[in-house]
Amino acid sequence: MSTSVREQFIARYGKEPAVCSFAPGRLEILGNHTDYNEGFVLSCAVSQHTCFAMSPADGTKCNICEHGKDQELDLNDIDTPVKGDWRNYIKGLLVDLKRRGIKFGAFDAVLDSQVPLSAGMSSSAALEMSFAFALKTIYGIELPLADWARVGQAVENKFLGLNSGLLDQFSSLFGKKDSFILCDFRTVEVLKNVGMPSGYVFVVANSMVKHNLVDSAYNQRRVSCENATAAIRKTHPEIKTLRDVSSELLEACKGDMDHIDYLRAKHVVGEDERVFRAVDCLGKDDIAGFGQLLYESHESSRVNFENSCPELDILVELSKSIPGCLGARLSGGGFGGISIHLVEIDKAESYAERLKTAYKSQTGIDAATFICSIGDGAGIKA
Ligand code: GLA
Repeated sequence: MSTSVREQFIARYGKEPAVCSFAPGRLEILGNHTDYNEGFVLSCAVSQHTCFAMSPADGTKCNICEHGKDQELDLNDIDTPVKGDWRNYIKGLLVDLKRRGIKFGAFDAVLDSQVPLSAGMSSSAALEMSFAFALKTIYGIELPLADWARVGQAVENKFLGLNSGLLDQFSSLFGKKDSFILCDFRTVEVLKNVGMPSGYVFVVANSMVKHNLVDSAYNQRRVSCENATAAIRKTHPEIKTLRDVSSELLEACKGDMDHIDYLRAKHVVGEDERVFRAVDCLGKDDIAGFGQLLYESHESSRVNFENSCPELDILVELSKSIPGCLGARLSGGGFGGISIHLVEIDKAESYAERLKTAYKSQTGIDAATFICSIGDGAGIKA
């Protein structure tokens, strides 16, 4: 991949790039919508990357070549997003660096991405973090890794208006090959790496329902979580976020809050608990138990958080009738995008095929299915 982005750079600019960077997409394994509630997530980085080749340039005009097409960007004109333009991710990142008083200059770049777009695999975080790694290398910008995740989050929150958490950028930075990372979004750190059980893989099935999280109910869901927290705080002022709330406490306070807010909180609190139950199962090699938690998570998305959609429900239902699958759920923000399926490795190829065929016959939609391998977080190519 990096050879190819490097070669594209040489073909476009007639010289070697100063740096080639890469950043992966991610899968959320368990811990849905827990990140902005300062909770826990089990996630991993995937082996599909977004890559940049980059060199510094004079003046304020930057060039980014993508698929052989030049896209310009002027450093004097980065403050306003343009609807539907992927350069917003670059602009937003530069705006946040400026806000932090960090100095940088112009650049010539080539961008190459293998991460499926708008699918729930965080193509935007991969773009942001790959760009960040290239820029920080050519301009010697020193920031702790977790702060780069915060810069990426600012792009989404402040520049684009999606009030997302840190999961996507964090997983793209901290992912570990063949492992899940157990993330704590209060302390913003990896608590531990948990090995992917041997003999199993995740099959990813893209429902092909495009989710646009800004237009969707994502922000509303976040408000519901905050409402539920505020209601609990009236009698339990020590509670800061839903991370501090157990299922028992939520049930005890159920009558103090709006019913919809209660359902949203029930999902988040349940997800935090499922993350730890999953770590437990994986520690005991209880893969069936782990798979069951994936099903429980999806069911809670469907009925409590209402961030599934009929197509994702069909993919998860189908998983129960095709041999080899131990559990499946939607992954990421929801409202469309991907589902993940925990499958015995020797059945994975036939499983992916059969799932695609069955989904097509029920919905008429051609799903993209593939076997996912778990890779390392972002870096610089030697
Ligand atoms: C999206 C957001 C993340 C996280 C997930 C749901 O991917 O960008 O911050 O909230 O949804 O867990």
